[in-house]
Amino acid sequence: MTAPMNPRGFASDNNAGVHPDILKAMAAVNGGHVIAYGDDPYTEKAVAAIHKIFGEEAGVFFVFIGTAANVLGLSSVTQPYHAVICPETAHINVDECGAPEKFSGCKLLTCDTPDGKLTVDMIAGHMHGIGFEHHVQPRVVSITQATELGTVYSIDEIRKIAEYTHAHGMLLHMDGARISNAAVALSCGFYEMTVGAGVDVLSFGGTKNGMMYGEAVVFLNKDLCSDFKYRRKQGMQLASKMRYIAAQFSAFLENDLWKANAQHANFMAKKLHDAVKDIPGVKVTRRVESNAVFAIIPPQIIPELQEQFFFYVWDEESSEVRWMCSFDTAEEDIEAFASLLRKLRN
Ligand SMILES: Cc1ncc(COP(=O)(O)O)c(C=O)c1O
Repeated sequence: MTAPMNPRGFASDNNAGVHPDILKAMAAVNGGHVIAYGDDPYTEKAVAAIHKIFGEEAGVFFVFIGTAANVLGLSSVTQPYHAVICPETAHINVDECGAPEKFSGCKLLTCDTPDGKLTVDMIAGHMHGIGFEHHVQPRVVSITQATELGTVYSIDEIRKIAEYTHAHGMLLHMDGARISNAAVALSCGFYEMTVGAGVDVLSFGGTKNGMMYGEAVVFLNKDLCSDFKYRRKQGMQLASKMRYIAAQFSAFLENDLWKANAQHANFMAKKLHDAVKDIPGVKVTRRVESNAVFAIIPPQIIPELQEQFFFYVWDEESSEVRWMCSFDTAEEDIEAFASLLRKLRN
């Protein structure tokens, strides 16, 4: 019996399945016994591949999910009287159920942004009360690359933020859940927009780009992670069967699978944008720089559209919706979606 096919929608790159090369890599390490908790040759190989990107000095720690990568990464470089400065739209602010605050104890100081991107001026707006014991002390600036709004920081924009951050005794954290999409958008490697631009702590994502599960916390400054292994265990993110996360990362990085997947997802978003942008009543609201398209559409057509191609409403009030493309989005999906959208508009 053939398995029923689930229709592909535009709700999230998380809704996509797993790339076949990743599944194959997991199956390939599935023989025999190896030492648990990461002391195995597969983990060694994956860590070596990540060192090759970020440098031998990087501290690399696999965890299960992106929220854990952010929360543990931030907690490990802060004290509860510190603050983390981030955009109002940051995943750590809106979509992690308060976990960053609960586990780090830090206050999040948010900035309104037009496009999900922080600037030095926005960060500077929170730089008061320094040394004043009644005020939380800014310690980390957190940026998301690519952002929750599908936009992408240029390397220069990251560097400017890093310089300001470091000049004020703070650290720069990058939520890289979609770092592959950003690298493809900028036609650069992971190194240039992280180590090269001054990022200190990175949540290095794989799940949204074809992996089954697994993210890495990468400390680009090794001095910051001397006790992280205890924090990861206490944070319930030390995988006993680590080889399966490691195998996924090895396959993700080998032969640039990450790049092929992200190139496809970004390209599909551009196609989607082109297919819907001239439909009367559809207004694309954000620059399409990675794998997301945002648009305002008439609210009355949303339920029927969602029935065939599920997606989320981003802002009920303005009827702004978000359409995400994935490594497995097909041109037929876009054509069928655009033609349904056009039909419902008429
Ligand atoms: C920007 C960003 N960061 C982090 C995460 C967290 O990932 P997870 O759902 O694996 O905790 C997500 C998930 O959607 C995300 O979009």
